[in-house]
Amino acid sequence: MPFHYPVMEDWLREALAKGMFNATNQSRESIESSEIVVITVGTPTGFQCQLDYSQLHLAMHEVAQADIKNKALIIRSTAVPGTLMNIVLPHLVTKTGLKPGVNFALAACPERILEGRAHVELYELPEIIGAIDSLSSAIARELFLKIDSRKVILETSPTGAELAKLFTNIYRYVNFALANEFAIWAERYGEDAHEIIRVANEGYPRSNIPRPGFAGGPCLGKYGFLLDNNTTFSSIISVAWKLNEAVPQHVVTSLMNSLGSLYGKRIAVLGLAFKANSDDVRLSPSAKLVETLKAYGAEVLIHDPYVEGTSSLEDVLKNPELVILATNHSNFKDLAATIDRSGCKIIYDVSGIYKPENFTRVEYRRFGRGR
Ligand SMILES: NC(=O)c1ccc[n+]([C@@H]2O[C@H](COP(=O)([O-])OP(=O)(O)OC[C@H]3O[C@@H](n4cnc5c(N)ncnc54)[C@H](O)[C@@H]3O)[C@@H](O)[C@H]2O)c1
Repeated sequence: MPFHYPVMEDWLREALAKGMFNATNQSRESIESSEIVVITVGTPTGFQCQLDYSQLHLAMHEVAQADIKNKALIIRSTAVPGTLMNIVLPHLVTKTGLKPGVNFALAACPERILEGRAHVELYELPEIIGAIDSLSSAIARELFLKIDSRKVILETSPTGAELAKLFTNIYRYVNFALANEFAIWAERYGEDAHEIIRVANEGYPRSNIPRPGFAGGPCLGKYGFLLDNNTTFSSIISVAWKLNEAVPQHVVTSLMNSLGSLYGKRIAVLGLAFKANSDDVRLSPSAKLVETLKAYGAEVLIHDPYVEGTSSLEDVLKNPELVILATNHSNFKDLAATIDRSGCKIIYDVSGIYKPENFTRVEYRRFGRGR
C-alpha cells in the first residue's frame, strides 16, 4: 500500500496470496481480458483550482485503443457534472465507432467512501448508478451486488449521479465551514465554540453542528470547484471554501496577537496529514499552517507518526516556545501531560482534542475559544 491503511494492508496481502489481484501496465491486454472496466483514476484540481482531467483523458485513450465491444465501462472517479455524457461518451463513440448501449455499456457510479473507511463503506453505502441505458444499469447493478447482495442501488441519470456525488460532499464541507464560522463568532464574544456547539446539539433533534477545525485534503475542497467553477453567480460553496482555507491563517494570526512576531520562534507542529490516523498530506490544512508559520519566519519542527521524514516527538518537544496540535491523530490524545511538561508557553489545539484542565503549566488555547 502506498499509504497508511492497516486493514487494507492485510486484505491486499491476502488477495495477492490467493492470486485474486493483479496490477499491470499493459492496459490494452487487461481491458480486453475483462468484461467490466472500472475507471477510478485521479481527477484532481490543479494549482489554480482548475480541473485536471489529464489522467481521465489518458485512461479514455487507452480504453478506446482496446477492443471494447460487448464490455461495460464504469466511471468511478469524481467528475464535473456532464463528464460522462459530454466527454467520455463522445470520445468513445468517435474513437471506436461503436454504438453506446448496443456495442458497449457505460455508467457513472461515483465512489463515495470516506478515505480510511473503504473496508466498511464499500459494503454498506448505497450505490448511485447513472447509466446511459437500462442494460448498462443492469450490468452495473450486478457488479455492485456481487460486493454485497444487500447493497441498496439507487438509479438516476449519468449527470444526476455525478451531481449527487458532489452534493453529498459539498453538503459536508459547507457544514464544516459553518462550524468554523461559528468558532470565529464564539471567539469574538469570548466564548468557547466547542462548548456552545455541544449544548446546541445535545438532545435537540434538528441540530447536528460539527465541531470546528481544519477542513481540507484532496477531496473535500475540490468538489466545490468541480461544481462551482461552472457557475457565474456568487455561491455559498465558494464562501465555504474561502472560510475553511482561511483557518490556518486565522490560527497564525491569533497566535501573533498574543505572542507578537513569530520570527525565530521555535514552534512544534504535531500532525501534518489532512485527517486523523492517515499519512495523506495532499492539500492538508496542517501543511498550509506549516508553510504560513515558516513564511512568518518561525522555526517549525514537525512530528507526524504516519508521515515519513518528520521529526520524532522527543525532538520537536525539546524546548518549543509553542506547540500546535494540527492533526487529531488518535495517539495524540494521551499527550497532554507530555506537552504540559515540555516548557512551552502555549499549546494551540486546532480541533479541540484536549480540555483546558489538562494543562497546569502551559496556556491552553484552541480554535473557537475566545479569551
Ligand atoms: N481516495 C478516496 O478515498 C476517494 C473517495 C471517494 C472518491 N474518490 C475519487 O476516486 C478517484 C481516485 O481517487 P484517489 O484518491 O484514489 O486518487 P489517486 O491519485 O490516489 O489514485 C489514482 C490512481 O490512478 C492511477 N492511474 C492514473 N491513470 C491511469 C491509467 N491510465 N491506467 C491505470 N491507472 C491509472 C494512478 O497511478 C493512481 O494510482 C478520484 O476521482 C477521487 O475523487 C476517492
